[in-house]
Amino acid sequence: MNEQLLKNLLNHHPWGELVNCEGTVGSTNSLVKALALQAAPEGTAVLADAQTAGRGRLGRSFYSPNGSGLYLSVLLRPQKPAQALFDLTARVAVAVCRAVEAVCGIALSVKWVNDLCLNGKKLGGILTELVGGAVPAAIVGIGINCTQTEFPEDLRSIAGSILSETGITVSREQLAAAILQQLSCLFDVDWLPYYRARCLTLGKEVRVISADGQRKAVALDVTDTAALLVEYPDGSREAVSSGEVSVRGLYGYLDERSYHEVKL
Ligand code: BTN
Repeated sequence: MNEQLLKNLLNHHPWGELVNCEGTVGSTNSLVKALALQAAPEGTAVLADAQTAGRGRLGRSFYSPNGSGLYLSVLLRPQKPAQALFDLTARVAVAVCRAVEAVCGIALSVKWVNDLCLNGKKLGGILTELVGGAVPAAIVGIGINCTQTEFPEDLRSIAGSILSETGITVSREQLAAAILQQLSCLFDVDWLPYYRARCLTLGKEVRVISADGQRKAVALDVTDTAALLVEYPDGSREAVSSGEVSVRGLYGYLDERSYHEVKL
């Protein structure tokens, strides 16, 4: 990443001076978390060329090879209690989709709640983490596969990149600048209609996984707290507010993630 180019693209934006571009790091989220604990200001961002310990949701790793993806973490200080931040990841998904659309002219879909998809392939994801007490800071981590054309065997049927799916070679600096601009007005956006329109999970069969076992359901809607409203075969409904969803038929039918899985 070219830090000076990114700063130039963010010319006059207050976050422009707060970006830090690194080479290889463990995880940009971990670096921003450490900065958050040292009272760094909102908008502090770390971008890396590669991550050796990139993290995803549910304890998964995020494949982060050198120079071909956008690995970005940003510190937000929303001044809201944690309960008012349930929609944060969904808001970020909308912000990233808008940025990708503006820079590349492509419309990504979102697999509830944080997977960014195109052509049935996962192009990226979002990992939001809260630190602090009653009014936490938020670390927003975004990973987007930009120019990878090869993936490790276990990801091959699941993952894609902007280049592999569209033929577009995107500038990581331009994409980062557009995302940072969107993130700086995250709470001013009416995110839910956009999110619903992009959410490929809706109308699909899902599997809800809890301590009691698994139940099939159909995903009906996304609520204003970004929960997934599902309906079970007996007609009962539940708003599922955390966990994982895998779309039946997405990422390859035989993959264990080929169903929506909702882990409670
Ligand atoms: C997911 O797919 O579950 C979320 C992936 C989030 C990956 C990004 S890359 C930048 C930031 N640093 C990390 O360690 N993770 C996030």
